[in-house]
Amino acid sequence: MKQIKKSFGSVQALRGVDFKLRRGTVHALMGENGAGKSTLMKILAGVQGYDEGEIRINDKVAVIGSVRDAISAGVSMIHQELSPVLEMSIAENIFLGREKITGRFPIVNSHFMNKEAAEMMKNQVGMDINPNTKMKDLNVAQMQMVEIVKAISQGADIIIMDEPTSAITETEVEKLFALIRELTEKGKSIIYISHKMDEIFQISDEITVLRDGELVGSDLAKNLDDTKLIKMMVGRELNEVYPKVKVEPGEVLLEVKNLGKTDKFRDISFKVCRGEIVGFAGLVGAGRTEVAEAIFGFKPADNGDICVKGKSVKIKSPADGIKEGIAFVSEDRKEVGLNLISSIKDNITLANLEKYCACNFIINNRVEKEKAQEYSKQFNVKAPSINTKVGQLSGGNQQKVILAKWVSCDPDIIIMDEPTRGIDVGAKSEIYRMMCELAKQGKCIIMISSEMPEVFGMSDRIYVLSHGRLKGVFDKSEFDQENILACASGKSKEEL
Ligand SMILES: Nc1ncnc2c1ncn2[C@@H]1O[C@H](COP(=O)(O)OP(=O)(O)OP(=O)(O)O)[C@@H](O)[C@H]1O
Ligand SMILES: [Mg+2]
Repeated sequence: MKQIKKSFGSVQALRGVDFKLRRGTVHALMGENGAGKSTLMKILAGVQGYDEGEIRINDKVAVIGSVRDAISAGVSMIHQELSPVLEMSIAENIFLGREKITGRFPIVNSHFMNKEAAEMMKNQVGMDINPNTKMKDLNVAQMQMVEIVKAISQGADIIIMDEPTSAITETEVEKLFALIRELTEKGKSIIYISHKMDEIFQISDEITVLRDGELVGSDLAKNLDDTKLIKMMVGRELNEVYPKVKVEPGEVLLEVKNLGKTDKFRDISFKVCRGEIVGFAGLVGAGRTEVAEAIFGFKPADNGDICVKGKSVKIKSPADGIKEGIAFVSEDRKEVGLNLISSIKDNITLANLEKYCACNFIINNRVEKEKAQEYSKQFNVKAPSINTKVGQLSGGNQQKVILAKWVSCDPDIIIMDEPTRGIDVGAKSEIYRMMCELAKQGKCIIMISSEMPEVFGMSDRIYVLSHGRLKGVFDKSEFDQENILACASGKSKEEL
């Protein structure tokens, strides 16, 4: 790609970027939130047009004006914000737009597509699953696997993965990396966008860094290290990623007793006090998100007790949860966390509109604007204005808007499900600092995370879940990666 330029209104997302990808290699694309990584790749994948520049594939000018053009040029992209058709099955999603048509009266051959899809899911990503399963019944990690299978099945030579591991656990990352190695051995090339340093050094041959829509540099991975890379991305060195300080715990804010939900989890009991940050570790599918959703009232539990500040409460809906001072930063930005077609302002104030009302029912626009502005600034949301639609923001900036929304409600109990998913290194440490600040103010935080360093770095205590059961509680002095992983894969703490 040569001198690619792209503007969105007044925002210059790309200011003349060069990018070169070699056959059979993994090329990492890095940079802060909003640097232009996804935009550059969407252009290559035909999702987005460009204003100026040239794309050459196999040394021939490639005219890419649509996704179809890109696919015929051998480019497939797995998007940062997965966009499957939720009401359709796995097979229908994989074959979307190129359904197998057979017979004298041309009809879609579901039998064939199901069989193919099941085989591909099994052989390529090791997932034994009914291809008729609707996408909406899968979790993020499973959806991602479907998207990967879809890209492979399109016969792509160039596969773009935009933050593919942001929602999957370490075992699944291993699987993905094995898959990537297999693909490169077959001469395919992978463009890999991620904010996770360790992954980048593990998997990539070459690294290109963008900053504010410009190329900072490109080099072989073996010539770079963490410090050099961070400096290229942020323009300065960064020390102390986890600023966790111990806060003397206060009264019990949340106590959960024998919480259960059919087929999801049971016998979940734990306590969190003022000033504490507790981590919830486990593999994808362990039931952590379901427990969080039950406490918040999004998908209420069937049995058990929830006590807030020592009082038993009934939480049957998110409105109940919010009333009890609970906030839930969900893992899924697109479906649950944000209203993509609304502005940054409307998203930030959404969970707390009473606060901006005059006479109890009319929104005071001036106050609403001021507050939204304040929080958007506090969280360093990069956008032309607070009226920008959230759907137009880069992934990391969308995450910041969700955090801003919940912090603006001034909750006591904050549940964060994968809070730094898709957040760049600089902004990550800002979020950790903010979590510490909230704990210091006497709030408590429950952090669900699949990133071990983050769980270790930020928690006062770690609860490990496996198959919907609590397998162990570890105090700070007992943190041990091996034990926690063993617990996560089903061993109870006593068995260790
Ligand atoms: N459809 C759009 N309309 C308006 N602005 C956009 C649109 N898409 C992207 N932008 C802007 O272009 C810039 C680059 O965004 P991009 O999504 O490429 O960033 P990124 O490097 O992928 O960041 P992240 O790590 O957060 O995903 C941002 O300022 C973003 O707000
Ligand atoms: Mg992006």
